[in-house]
Amino acid sequence: MDIQNHDRALIVDFGSQVTQLIARRLRELNVYCEIHPFNSVDAAFLDAYQPKAVILSGGPASVTWEDSPRADPAVFELGVPVLGICYGQQVMMEQLGGRVETGTSREFGRAYVERVENDPLLEGLFAGDAHEQVWMSHGDHVAELAPGFGVIAKSPGAPLAAVADPERKFYATQFHLEVVHTTHGAKVLRNFTHGIAGFKGDWTMAAYRDEAIEKIRAQVGAGRVICGLSGGVDSSVAAVLIHEAIGEQLTCVYVDHGLMRAYESEEVVGLFREHYNIPLVHVDASDLFLGTLAGVSDPEAKRKTIGGLFIDVFEEEAKKIGGADFLAQGTLYPDVIESVSATGGPSVTIKSHHNVGGLPERMNMELVEPLRELFKDEVRALGRELGLPDAFVGRHPFPGPGLAIRIPGEITREKADTLRKADAIYIEEIKNAGLYDEIWQAFSVLLPVNTVGVMGDERTYESVLALRAVTSTDGMTADYYPYDHEFLGRVATRIINEVKGVNRVVYDITSKPPGTIEWE
Ligand code: XMP
Repeated sequence: MDIQNHDRALIVDFGSQVTQLIARRLRELNVYCEIHPFNSVDAAFLDAYQPKAVILSGGPASVTWEDSPRADPAVFELGVPVLGICYGQQVMMEQLGGRVETGTSREFGRAYVERVENDPLLEGLFAGDAHEQVWMSHGDHVAELAPGFGVIAKSPGAPLAAVADPERKFYATQFHLEVVHTTHGAKVLRNFTHGIAGFKGDWTMAAYRDEAIEKIRAQVGAGRVICGLSGGVDSSVAAVLIHEAIGEQLTCVYVDHGLMRAYESEEVVGLFREHYNIPLVHVDASDLFLGTLAGVSDPEAKRKTIGGLFIDVFEEEAKKIGGADFLAQGTLYPDVIESVSATGGPSVTIKSHHNVGGLPERMNMELVEPLRELFKDEVRALGRELGLPDAFVGRHPFPGPGLAIRIPGEITREKADTLRKADAIYIEEIKNAGLYDEIWQAFSVLLPVNTVGVMGDERTYESVLALRAVTSTDGMTADYYPYDHEFLGRVATRIINEVKGVNRVVYDITSKPPGTIEWE
């Protein structure tokens, strides 16, 4: 992707939990943007990236602390519009000659702002002079404005809720514009990018498709590309895009590790071989995977075993087709973003994510990652652009290790079969109720716990099945889906009646954090 052809916004990350949302909102406005940690944005970077506008994110620090993060002064000398949000506002005020204080009261959650001054940033807001709902989350506040700035909106708790220096096109808000709770946050961002900074809105998936195809052709030349298909949306979209670019130079490999969802193999093979006519090797490696996983119950050991076997199988298949020069992966932008923690240190590994990493070095292959700039919803839009069926593009995410991480404890083929059956019923009921697209991800977990039940006057002693469903925007944070009880009752009854080996169903109501989406 030659991003030099597009208007570019830069988001300087100070470590806020919601920095990614700024990027998502901008992308929704057809604005290309990238997030970079504050300490990697210096004059040389700015010179190379050439942003048309800069946004300073929120963050957990206080500008009143010694050594708290600052923006490189070069940001303010570029001559392009700058918008500071929350911590970004305080950084701007502090660095440009104002003063920030730690307040006696902190302000979190809903607040209402009113207009103080007409300004292009807030154009179209305050219809009928109404108050606008915004979302605050801060302990500090600006005590003294930097020279050149004036107040354009205030709230009872934040007299400097939004400030502007129209001359330099510098703007700052104390509230978060990127979260949905700020009712017209997206409109304010649009005013900033399209109105104040003059973005054309030239970032569309139709344009992306054509440019990505050109870029793949340039990278691959006459080389051979191999792509691991998992049945997930990302690898599928990557494969179809690459196939459009280089046709038969691409071979896809679908490894069935015996831990796929019901009908997964038929769907993937059907779609790729029959619908798209893409060369596809279908490997049934279930004996190998399930055999090697026997007796393995530690979550990380499972993930590592599966990741290692994947590479072995993949390598063998790659050799059979005469090797490949490139390995295609459906890596997305959220996997690429290096978000800064409050301390600037690396974050801990919660889970070892599975991919075919390790293989490129072993086989001397180069990576082709045509989705590296995209968010999940953009990948879905690109998939539709490429003609992938809606039902396929809209599928819930499915992790590489598959059902292995939905069977806590030891894995057996029998357990995988039980889980597959129960999960198919659960997903069918979600679809019947018209809820599938409202939910980010739903699945079942087969617990290593037996409980006593009574069925037809007989005592049973069988497994517990947990149902999980979450809403999320990117899988980084999530909340459980609030089903009505009648729905849950219907699913539980069907599963217990129809799936042998399950006699109790529970619903997981843990959000992320503190839980993760998957159980392992
Ligand atoms: P967690 O469980 O970490 O999951 O909250 C967040 C999202 O990532 C998916 N996930 C994976 N995807 N390989 C993948 O491709 C993996 O190893 C993996 N582990 C978790 C998970 O399904 C959820 O959508």
